[in-house]
Amino acid sequence: MTLNELSPAELDTFVEQQQTAYDALVGQGLKLDITRGKPSAAQLDLSNDLLRGAHETTVDGIDIRNYGGVKGLTTIRQIFADLLGVPLENILAADNASLSIMHDLITFAVLHGTPDSDRPWDRSTIKILCPVPGYDRHFAICEALGIEMIPVPLGEHGPDLARVRELLADDSVKGMWVVPTYANPNGIVYDEATTRELVSMPAAPDFRIIWDNAYAVHHLTDHEYPAIDVLGLATEAGNPNRIWEVASTSKITFAGAGVSFLAASAANLDWYLKYTGFRTIGPNKVNQQAHAEFLGSADGVRELMRKHREIIAPKFAVVDEVLQQRLGEYAVATWTRPEGGYFVTLTVPNGTAAAVVALAKQAGIALTPAGSSHPLKHDPDDAVIRLAPTLPPVAEVRAAMEGVATCVLLAAGQARQAAAGSVRHSAD
Ligand SMILES: Cc1ncc(COP(=O)(O)O)c(C=O)c1O
Repeated sequence: MTLNELSPAELDTFVEQQQTAYDALVGQGLKLDITRGKPSAAQLDLSNDLLRGAHETTVDGIDIRNYGGVKGLTTIRQIFADLLGVPLENILAADNASLSIMHDLITFAVLHGTPDSDRPWDRSTIKILCPVPGYDRHFAICEALGIEMIPVPLGEHGPDLARVRELLADDSVKGMWVVPTYANPNGIVYDEATTRELVSMPAAPDFRIIWDNAYAVHHLTDHEYPAIDVLGLATEAGNPNRIWEVASTSKITFAGAGVSFLAASAANLDWYLKYTGFRTIGPNKVNQQAHAEFLGSADGVRELMRKHREIIAPKFAVVDEVLQQRLGEYAVATWTRPEGGYFVTLTVPNGTAAAVVALAKQAGIALTPAGSSHPLKHDPDDAVIRLAPTLPPVAEVRAAMEGVATCVLLAAGQARQAAAGSVRHSAD
């Protein structure tokens, strides 16, 4: 029977049962954490050969131990050019953390303007579109810089295009965050039709899409979505500079010691290199070469990603199994079954996400704070919870999900009681 179908008396009994289950949960003294999308130690171990470093010292005719080589080594760039489907000349390799590249891109545009800007982006007036739910660190960059964010609902294949088109009529809209493959956190994959629309819609000449392909090769099923040639489509649409595509090896090799990439038009890459030239005399090419030697080729990456899948797919399966078992019959929540990436989005009854996270915290289960998937951490429905099951061992994922299910049921039951109470009051 669904929660909505329970009579008031049955609802009271249900809440009492959930309270008992919750008290028992708190009594277990758990200490579980499913807050962040981090690879587990077993995943990191897959790349331990990297610790031996690079064997070559001369690559592209330069000594990789020295300064220079600002665009990164062709050995590693070629592998990611193949994976992302971009020409070699349109991709550069940098240090660890594509987040640093994204932060650079926005701050350079604010400080200097883009190659298509007639003046620097004025952060007090510009706006950036944020498909929601989205990645909290994207939103944090805008928040830190004081840039206004406009949420746009994210559908199954991308954002609400009619809404995006309407918003782009305003020249002060300068950017949009996109995670095109296995989006953080709801796992959707942008399709080609959506991508074509996004690269061709009328917009300000210096409008940029930050095409964050963090999970381009992070498949959880046999269906391995190929990367869409977004740069090619943008060029075809007459907007070659619209795309800033980023990616990294963070969740392929070592999250804290990988290589990041920027793929873009020649004009955008020249612009980026001009300004990064003031803050670095070149990236860590020894790490880039170690990666190139370890990964070998695009196929080498694909093979490694299948090993990751073997480790993490069972964790995603456990999330789905426990949620289905515990919540299915009550119809109190929905959740995603991602085909790749690092997250599951759990949608609970409106007005209860913060309560679920607080209850879980009290029971020793750390969840990403409610609201994190929205700009300024404000989820107007208070309904979205991001689950990140990759880091803990399977048994801990199961224990955490059992606990989360109890918290969802208790919060949902209490919310229904409160709503029924207010209906009873207003009828008095
Ligand atoms: C969508 C997305 N982009 C970027 C990152 C961070 O990437 P990097 O480690 O390359 O900075 C993450 C990490 O969770 C992510 O989910």
